[in-house]
Amino acid sequence: MKSIAFGTLKGGTGKTTCCFNLAGALALNPDNRILLVDGDPQCNLTNDIGIDCSDMERNNIRTIFNNKKVEPSELILKRVLDKLPNVDIIPSNILLIKTEMELVSTAGREKLLANYFDRNKEFFSQYTHVIFDTNPNLGVINQNIFYFVESIILVSDVSLNAIQGAELFTFLWEENIEDLGIRNNIKALIINNFDKRINLAKDLQDYYLSEDDFKDILVETPIPGSVAMKDTSLNHSPIVVLQPTHQAASAVRKIVKELILREVF
Ligand SMILES: Nc1ncnc2c1ncn2[C@@H]1O[C@H](COP(=O)(O)OP(=O)(O)OP(=O)(O)O)[C@@H](O)[C@H]1O
Ligand SMILES: [Mg+2]
Repeated sequence: MKSIAFGTLKGGTGKTTCCFNLAGALALNPDNRILLVDGDPQCNLTNDIGIDCSDMERNNIRTIFNNKKVEPSELILKRVLDKLPNVDIIPSNILLIKTEMELVSTAGREKLLANYFDRNKEFFSQYTHVIFDTNPNLGVINQNIFYFVESIILVSDVSLNAIQGAELFTFLWEENIEDLGIRNNIKALIINNFDKRINLAKDLQDYYLSEDDFKDILVETPIPGSVAMKDTSLNHSPIVVLQPTHQAASAVRKIVKELILREVF
């Protein structure tokens, strides 16, 4: 089981869009079984899949932090995507925001998620990939996710603020992992919403390639900015299913191939 999370410290760069669409491309291989986990109280991934995250009756990622004994099978919604029967999800809930506050004085609070997955290793081993979406902060929930996963994928769009978000994330996470006693698990950086007509686009790629923190992890193919990518969320369907011949779909498939070669996926 590979575990992966999308992150950065700038909002709106396309973390959720990448999470949803790369998972879709990965699911084209029927040998893969993918578990998505929405770690963002905004619930964008849950909404993209078409699930109501204001439903207070349904278990969700928050349940893991509130009730350590919950069975994983009670958390998971199965077969949540049309035409891709190998994708399941642990949804988010708008009250996940409360969990941050509730955990303030809990001992070992950054490791609760890792402990949960460890206790239920056998169950989760049915999945080839567990893929987390996060929001742009390093609060307790995200720390749990970034501590647990083997690989973090940074997502940048073409803006100076996105560079700042990726740099700040890297700086703060490297500080954090020393305390947590793990190795640097930032393994890839994807440029999303790319448009080569924007002057900054090539400079941004060159900049990342000139920086020690990023030059070895920058993913070769950027994801083009396009209405088709935006439509994936409205249609609850990843680009490889919605518009498989679109150039954004081939970019997404190429990225998945590269990440498989690099053993991130
Ligand atoms: N390649 C793309 N082409 C066109 N629109 C895109 C693309 N990627 C993302 N978007 C749009 O940009 C907006 C922000 O994307 P998304 O929600 O994925 O960002 P995010 O990083 O997850 O945001 P947050 O930090 O709030 O979690 C969304 O409306 C999405 O549809
Ligand atoms: Mg998001």
